[in-house]
Amino acid sequence: MTSSAVQQISTVTQNLWVQLLDQLQLISQQYPDAVFANSLAAEDMVIEHAIRQQNLAITSFMLDTGRLPKETLALAKRVEQQYQSAITVLHPDTEAVVAHVAEHGAYAFYDSLSLRQACCQLRKVQPLQRYLQGKSAWITGQRREQSQTRTQLQAHEHDMQFGLEKFNPLCDWHTDNVWEVIRALDIPYNPLHDQGYPSIGCEPCTRAIRPGEDLRAGRWWWEQRHSVECGLHAAPLSQSSTTQELS
Ligand code: ADX
Ligand code: SF4
Repeated sequence: MTSSAVQQISTVTQNLWVQLLDQLQLISQQYPDAVFANSLAAEDMVIEHAIRQQNLAITSFMLDTGRLPKETLALAKRVEQQYQSAITVLHPDTEAVVAHVAEHGAYAFYDSLSLRQACCQLRKVQPLQRYLQGKSAWITGQRREQSQTRTQLQAHEHDMQFGLEKFNPLCDWHTDNVWEVIRALDIPYNPLHDQGYPSIGCEPCTRAIRPGEDLRAGRWWWEQRHSVECGLHAAPLSQSSTTQELS
């Protein structure tokens, strides 16, 4: 961070940023095949910037569900240009998606929780599972503050669902820390964040939130709040014994 950028942000955020750089460097040394799940949300842009600033050999990937907002797809292109680094794009199995849509329709996720979860399985979870097979670690931009289901998040966990190590280096960051870094370092971000979308997923399953609503209120808003996960982060996780080294 340049000295003028440092002056713009609080000491707390400066310390978090330095810790993030250190954590990513350690992950990349200890898990040379580690990959980073970049949804192009604000948190993920902070991590992307931290990885590229240090030229770490961590591959970024995105799950292109086929239903992402155009703003997210445009940002992915911009990120590749700005950092001169390709994002690996994962797609769902075309035949499975075509069969699902033929049987249930293109908007079946509004009809029931099970159809919504089936769509997330097809378009997100299965491609992720295929990609993570045989890898030793993945990194996400999840934060504890984002939801009731994330309050126990650890910086380093063992992901029992996919069978590898999982790192959440922003787990104890607050929204303000994320935005202080984005502004200070002029990191590109999704314009939907300025239009009331703190959390961005697929276009038909995300709406802007109203004042006072929680950060993920716009995700699958028609459902009961206990269901607001898509399966990427749903598994029981055990905290790793090496957490201390990385947090
Ligand atoms: S979700 O499970 O509800 O979709 P959320 O949008 O909060 O997750 O994002 C949490 C983290 O999951 C992101 O920081 C990112 O690491 C990963 N993630 C979510 N969606 C994607 C995606 N489409 N592509 C890559 N990573 C994703
Ligand atoms: Fe399907 Fe909506 Fe899940 Fe995207 S968020 S995979 S469109 S149900």
